[in-house]
Amino acid sequence: MLVTNKKIMSAAMSGKYAVGAFNINNLEILQAVVEAAVEEESPAIIAMTPSAIKYAGLEYLASLVKIAAKDVSLPMSLHLDHGKELETVKSCIDAGFTSVMIDASHLSFEENVAVTSKVVALAHPKGVSVEAELGRLAGIEEETVADEDAVLTDPDSAKEFVKRTGVDALAVAIGTSHGAYKFKGEPRLDFERLKTIREKVDVLLVLHGASSVPSWIIERATKYGAELGGAKGIPEGHIRRAISLGVSKINIDTDLRLAFTGAVREVLATAPKQYDPRKILGPAKEATKTVVKGKMSLFGSAGKAP
Ligand code: G3H
Ligand code: 13P
Ligand code: ZN
Repeated sequence: MLVTNKKIMSAAMSGKYAVGAFNINNLEILQAVVEAAVEEESPAIIAMTPSAIKYAGLEYLASLVKIAAKDVSLPMSLHLDHGKELETVKSCIDAGFTSVMIDASHLSFEENVAVTSKVVALAHPKGVSVEAELGRLAGIEEETVADEDAVLTDPDSAKEFVKRTGVDALAVAIGTSHGAYKFKGEPRLDFERLKTIREKVDVLLVLHGASSVPSWIIERATKYGAELGGAKGIPEGHIRRAISLGVSKINIDTDLRLAFTGAVREVLATAPKQYDPRKILGPAKEATKTVVKGKMSLFGSAGKAP
């Protein structure tokens, strides 16, 4: 059953949990997410970026998700993550996406409002929900307070942005960043800012760059040849706190990539005679599924779609 992010996130907001948006690039990662959702009885947001679409093809990926959704009775959405061009948004809506993100956070506030409003005008009449981003995803440990104000989401601007654009969901910058190297020192997020945004702005909130980079995944990958020194993510306690402050969608890509490629490394290193792709990608799918199940339980979405 494909539904909108708005529907999935509104239920999460009132139930005080969050739903994971998991980035997929191929069949195995999609199956890992869907099987985890079925086993955990959890809603799931299936996300794909423009570069995932470029890699695998829009029709291929969208069709796989639709087939997966047809067989399960859980609320699932098909979501464009970090759409940058209006053309991409249009083609995703035409391909049956139930939710799109327009990321114009690199533009000025006025340009961001203009581009985002165009996407809302395209998407809403077709019943597709819209996420936008305000602020810049960047670690804050080495920023001065003035720098932090420049890159992180300003609550008053967020209020104006949401009012002028009519978006359903807003990705906020509170100190998270994409990838496996989020902090050099202590992980720090600006929870006070998140609290103020929640109080001032009536919109569903999204946390990007939320992978935890768990040590067990890093250790396994490193044991079999990965070089990931200094990798550090968002501690699970910080994720719980963000949910308690009103975040209802949490984006995860890096932890899936690390688990997937770590498992591939293990098979290649321990079974050098193996050349059947299914024997190499099968364990990678299982490792990804384990991570997704862990996230569903951490986010509190497990058991919410019986
Ligand atoms: O923001 C989401 C991703 O982690 C970056 O993904 O390499 O598919 O653009 P990408
Ligand atoms: P991570 O790199 O922390 O997994 O974040 C993914 C993300 O925000 C996708 O939009
Ligand atoms: Zn992101």
